[in-house]
Amino acid sequence: MSARDILLFALQDSHDFGEGVATRLATTLSDLEESDFEDGEHKARPVDDVSGREVFVIQSLFSDNRHSVNDKLCRLLFLIGALKDARAASVTAVIPYLCYARQDRKAQPQEPISSRYVAQLLEAMGTDRLIVMDVHDLAALENAFRCPTDHLEAFPLFVEHFAALLGSEPAVVVSPDIGGTRRALRFSSAFAEVCHSEIDTAFVEKHRSGGTIKSGAFAGKIEGRSAIIIDDLISTGGTILRAARACREHGARRIFVAATHGIFAVEANAVMAGDLLEQVVITNTGPIYRIDPELVGKKVVILDAAPLIAAAIDCIRARGSP
Ligand code: R5P
Repeated sequence: MSARDILLFALQDSHDFGEGVATRLATTLSDLEESDFEDGEHKARPVDDVSGREVFVIQSLFSDNRHSVNDKLCRLLFLIGALKDARAASVTAVIPYLCYARQDRKAQPQEPISSRYVAQLLEAMGTDRLIVMDVHDLAALENAFRCPTDHLEAFPLFVEHFAALLGSEPAVVVSPDIGGTRRALRFSSAFAEVCHSEIDTAFVEKHRSGGTIKSGAFAGKIEGRSAIIIDDLISTGGTILRAARACREHGARRIFVAATHGIFAVEANAVMAGDLLEQVVITNTGPIYRIDPELVGKKVVILDAAPLIAAAIDCIRARGSP
């Protein structure tokens, strides 16, 4: 079977990213007729006959200046419904950035576990399989979905980038909270393998007090070395800023950031522009238009995640699993 045997769709919101994936698979996106109605309703109709076909639908679920997270989710759900009604053999939802993934547990009584509700909605529409990248908590994702989930990680892209940038310079990988420690460990061991040197890890404790994020303990040795802070996403930039300050206080020589999803709320640009961070590396799974153009290519480096997604689709197509 070749990549031509699958059908690959991307909703308008993720069209450019989808084209990147299609190019990597040496195929093209299948046509969708998308219509917007006066009261905000939307309709997406696959033009090609999907009956009996293996279908992949790409939609990254971040808000942008046209559509909210909820709007994009609803569009994706209805398209999956239409594909199933048209008798697609299977539908894989490819969601590079999965919204609500941070709401994966009750921090207070009666809080919603929204990540589970998103899973239920996708499954209710008939989603057979899910491909996502760097969610907040892998165990929570796996518990929320009953259908197979393929969780991709961006760290191979970061390893390649930082190996070229830092060479054998002594470096420490830093998690900005305890929840991200496993991510930091996976990145540091892959980085060490490529650099043929020992790469330590460190972490900064993060806790909330009265709605404000506070710094806690710092564990690890960083003095005189370069720090690479790794996280799943940057929203306000508060988490990264706090971790960077802790790294500087503990003697880091240079401070870099690697985060898969650049969600970039307004405040984040100021954090990125500050003197503390030498470079911030993200991927193109999020709203990169929100990044101050002055920073792009200088302070903020955007890596292409489409090859990782394409490779996963290719593996599923060939072997049934990435
Ligand atoms: C939280 O645990 C996440 O892993 C991120 O660290 C967090 O969501 C980043 O948000 P912000 O940039 O607003 O601090």
